[in-house]
Amino acid sequence: MREPIIVNWKSQDAELFGKHNLQLRHRLHESPLFSDEALAGLIENYPLSHYNLHYMASPDEPRQFWRQGEIGKAKGEDVIQAIRNGRMWINLRKVMEIDPRYDQLLKDIFSEFESYVPGLKTFKHNFGILISSPKAQVYYHSDVPGQSLWQIRGRKRIWIYPNSAPFLLPEELEALILNITEEEVRFENWFDEHAAIYDLEPGDMLHWPLNGPHRVVNEDVLNVSVTTEHWTPEIRKSYAVNFANGLLRRKIGVTPARNFDGPSVYAKATLTALYKYSGLQKRDAVKPKIDFRIDPASPKGLVDIPAFLKG
Ligand SMILES: [Fe+2]
Repeated sequence: MREPIIVNWKSQDAELFGKHNLQLRHRLHESPLFSDEALAGLIENYPLSHYNLHYMASPDEPRQFWRQGEIGKAKGEDVIQAIRNGRMWINLRKVMEIDPRYDQLLKDIFSEFESYVPGLKTFKHNFGILISSPKAQVYYHSDVPGQSLWQIRGRKRIWIYPNSAPFLLPEELEALILNITEEEVRFENWFDEHAAIYDLEPGDMLHWPLNGPHRVVNEDVLNVSVTTEHWTPEIRKSYAVNFANGLLRRKIGVTPARNFDGPSVYAKATLTALYKYSGLQKRDAVKPKIDFRIDPASPKGLVDIPAFLKG
């Protein structure tokens, strides 16, 4: 039998899982899957379709938005070095589709949680690896599926906020679920007074309630983190209701009821399925623009390239 991935699970954690913030200790950071060599090898062969490489402008630069770039022909270790020395982060998405070893790890993680939490049934698991520069920030946002963050290397601080108004408005959650990405979740500095704050070190893992807004600031050190995502029947139901509510509010102009039980849920699930099946959602989604490439020889670790649309 393999060793457990979570090393300090307590019986009461089963009652907290998915409902409250839950900080646990894990052993992923000791796995050879996250050595420098393994990460470099993974990056080198990673398809453009499956990663996002972002450059974050510094406060003294005129362009204040996040740019997206590509690895090009850079070696994996040079990409990590450019991130260590620069202002970038790379998100290797759906690692389980690229390398079966991480797929096995992902399966092991969720079969372990399902063995710990009575009645827990998860599916559509997702595994991402995030490598980010010292002091890099991820701004206030919310995610659609169930989320966990696993710290592998470096240290970061994460603020987790309540998953309801005024921290997350129904229309903000609907926009997120409809994939209208220009619309951001509002952040006010006073929100911090209501956040739970965690300092994560290698071996720390955090799981928080569905759609809970959060923001992250790295300490002055290269960070490697894993994000896992999952769905449950309850998460799917919440998604369908919010998706349909978003359509009702935006396309028809009504203010929808936020019922998560009863017959309206089935009607809304049907509306969601019809809309997705019709292909209308694709037309509304936004494609990212790639306009730089990793270049270890340049001071910022990148060069500008002619912009092209991804995907
Ligand atoms: Fe997130």
